[in-house]
Amino acid sequence: MGISTAAAIALTAALFIPIFPSTAVKADGNLIAALDPPPKSPTVGLCASVIMPAGFPCSQNTGNSRFKNTSTQTKDGYVLGLQRVSSPSVIVGQKSSPVLLIHGLFMAGDAWFMDSANQSLGFILATQGFDVWVGNVRGTRWSHGHVSLSEKDKDFWDWSWQELALYDLGEMIRYVYSVTNSKVFVVGHSQGTIMSLAALTQPDIATMVEATALLCPISYLEHITAPFVLRLVKMHLDEVIVAMGIHELNFKSDMGTRIMDMMCDGHLECGDLLNSITGENCCFNSSRIDFYLEFEPHPTSSKNLRHLFQMIRKGTFAMYDYGTWKNLIYYSQIKPPAFDLSSIPSSLPIWMGYGGKDALADVSDVQHTLKELPLKPDLLYLENYGHIDFLLSVKSKEDVYDSMLAFFSSHVGTSSSSSY
Ligand SMILES: *[C@@H]1O[C@H](CO)[C@@H](O)[C@H](O)[C@H]1NC(C)=O
Ligand SMILES: *[C@@H]1O[C@H](CO)[C@@H](O)[C@H](O)[C@H]1NC(C)=O
Ligand SMILES: *[C@@H]1O[C@H](CO)[C@@H](O)[C@H](O)[C@H]1NC(C)=O
Repeated sequence: MGISTAAAIALTAALFIPIFPSTAVKADGNLIAALDPPPKSPTVGLCASVIMPAGFPCSQNTGNSRFKNTSTQTKDGYVLGLQRVSSPSVIVGQKSSPVLLIHGLFMAGDAWFMDSANQSLGFILATQGFDVWVGNVRGTRWSHGHVSLSEKDKDFWDWSWQELALYDLGEMIRYVYSVTNSKVFVVGHSQGTIMSLAALTQPDIATMVEATALLCPISYLEHITAPFVLRLVKMHLDEVIVAMGIHELNFKSDMGTRIMDMMCDGHLECGDLLNSITGENCCFNSSRIDFYLEFEPHPTSSKNLRHLFQMIRKGTFAMYDYGTWKNLIYYSQIKPPAFDLSSIPSSLPIWMGYGGKDALADVSDVQHTLKELPLKPDLLYLENYGHIDFLLSVKSKEDVYDSMLAFFSSHVGTSSSSSY
């Protein structure tokens, strides 16, 4: 087996559909320990656990009002976590451009800082002089709950990527824009690209964005090839868990591991989960898996999984489908409204990095996205890259980020005289 079960678990955790077969866990005592929630991280915070130890200045909100300047509250009451990272060597007199990083499903802001300072995008952008803002969506361990709901409330988990895009990302962009008084570069990975593309269809959000870089861009999920994901879709896992009364999907919980037991029982592809979920990854460092597992996976909502599965089933890039009658109530139409990619401003520069081995952001779905965008993005295609490589490849700087940085450099400040 080219990639160990442990690797499969870490990567799955990190990305799209998490898998924790207890058989794999039992086979490796270390994993049991690694699956326990890290005891200190929720209180210590992302800055103190990975960013400052690497020598980078970092500030973050703690969820209390004293630090309101780095906290964002969505219009539906969630208090998000935002960290701000700068270069260890102060660049005097240089105004740095703000860049907001938006992570994927089952991940959080830590995703951008998992490897060394010259491998991880968060560190690289700070070193290059960018004013780096690290987003963490509702429900992740770096966000700060809700003004009135507790995580134990069913209603706390009543959202999908639609709210993450229109409320969380919209609010983070607005916040960074207002604090820095500058248009914001936005970088997304995986679900972070779904959120970015959906948010950018909204003129009031797009107008605050300088340019965007999308790693493993997804708007359509019609052609995903990942066999394990397709099986979960076919067996309606999304509906099953809601019927079981599970509204929070947390694979660091007992319930989470039990669900994975159920999903994997007797199924061959669980022996090679990584490949059956993300596609083959060429270039990540498998000896760092225990470290990744200290952070991933973060929780998300069952409703979010259901929305993603709707996209796979229907081939649409649309709002959450409540079913005919409820759609009439929520949307005044039978079908949920689609996000219209052609309404993204044609003056907004877009860069995309995608891989030939990515089983989630499939090349034909990327082509579909490209066809609907009003402007041809700058494209980087890496034939041997899978879904995880864009984040964790040991060579991602040379292979991916240098191209993204060149794109950003060519657009720094260019929008000041243009208007949407
Ligand atoms: C936010 O406010 C706190 C307290 O006033 C301050 O210590 C911190 O540096 C501020 N952070 C930013 C990013 O402005
Ligand atoms: C990354 O940085 C470390 C120390 O900061 C250095 O030893 C190493 O050679 C660097 N690697 C690359 C590929 O530049
Ligand atoms: C892989 O991870 C190990 C453990 O953290 C580290 O010592 C090694 O330098 C990493 N290799 C590369 C190529 O980054």
